[in-house]
Amino acid sequence: MQPVEMAPGVYWTGALDPQLRTFDVIMHAEHGTTYNSYLVQGSKSCALLETVKVKFADSFIENLRTLVDPLRIEYLIVNHTEPDHTGSLRRLLDEIPSIRIVAARNTVPFIRGILNEDIDVMVVKDGDTIDLGGKTLTFFETPFLHWPDTMFTYLREDEILFPCDFLGSHYADEKLFADLLDDFSFSRRYYFDHIFRPFKDFVNRGLEKIKDLPLKMVAPSHGPIFRKDVEKFLDEYREWAAPVVKGDKPRLMIFYASSYGNTLKLAESLADGARENGVEVIIFDLEVSEPGTLLDEVERADGIAVGSCTINGDAVKPVWDFLSSLATLKLRGKVGAAFGSYGWSGEAVKMIEDRLRSIRFKIPAEGVRAHLVPSDDDLGKARELGVVLAKALVP
Ligand code: FEO
Repeated sequence: MQPVEMAPGVYWTGALDPQLRTFDVIMHAEHGTTYNSYLVQGSKSCALLETVKVKFADSFIENLRTLVDPLRIEYLIVNHTEPDHTGSLRRLLDEIPSIRIVAARNTVPFIRGILNEDIDVMVVKDGDTIDLGGKTLTFFETPFLHWPDTMFTYLREDEILFPCDFLGSHYADEKLFADLLDDFSFSRRYYFDHIFRPFKDFVNRGLEKIKDLPLKMVAPSHGPIFRKDVEKFLDEYREWAAPVVKGDKPRLMIFYASSYGNTLKLAESLADGARENGVEVIIFDLEVSEPGTLLDEVERADGIAVGSCTINGDAVKPVWDFLSSLATLKLRGKVGAAFGSYGWSGEAVKMIEDRLRSIRFKIPAEGVRAHLVPSDDDLGKARELGVVLAKALVP
């Protein structure tokens, strides 16, 4: 797709990837994606914001040539270094050896890691500016939105914010501007949930940082550009990043997968022990639950207990799918526990504990294992585990 003028001297110079169906191995991209790059031409010099994924490097450079002699591009602004935006960096440096990379301090090791050379980076910090001649770029450090090196770039004269992946979406459409498209809010929400959900505190800090900027346009690094009702799209992030509303009682969620009902028996005893000690308990059967739909519940919970039978020396797939899905949540401080019935060796409980610990759950007590049908003693241990969890949850 050819470059598109967004404002006088400001061009979209990115690439559309409408056939993409999986992004970064783990994200669905039913509507493809875009790798947005922008060229800003001032009277003195030019800056390019971001590059594109490496497979589009040739057309990217050809497109730049239609706008400007590439050797006139003095700066490459790297809002962050993930390879979907830095994939063409090597090509660009070969084409424009004089270009200066401009980035936040945290970016330097990433750029060296990508290029495998000790390259000079012009490091900018909050409030630093570059004057291109009638086009002034101001930089805002916004770490963990979503990489440690992320920054926003603001073009003062045209009131355009380039916020990196913030407000992005995997949604490819040649019309390019959100106001020309039908509703694609599902795509924005999916993107937020997978990219920004773990960083809600940082989302709020980022929103705070830009709250006084006049904004005519917001041009993220993926998906459509916003030039109407910009505040409405910022409000979406305010809503999605708002603190979780909790109930009056501490909440324990119990998730289990059970071949013959034995792990379920442990779950029920554990629930009894917790409920009797002032905790609200909700039990989910992972065999029939979609992990993605449980994340809000886990976020609202103060603790979780996860049970699995053991098959072939392992926890079962629905349990691993669930545990894997938790990666996008902020879990530090939540309490966790494991339990399960087994026939031969019963490795699942320890595996679940290890996973919970690795994603920062506090594990206040060893998990409960029962050989086949839980005995009264096993059920008593499960109940006692519920009591221990309740005590860890009740302030
Ligand atoms: Fe679109 Fe975080 O790279």
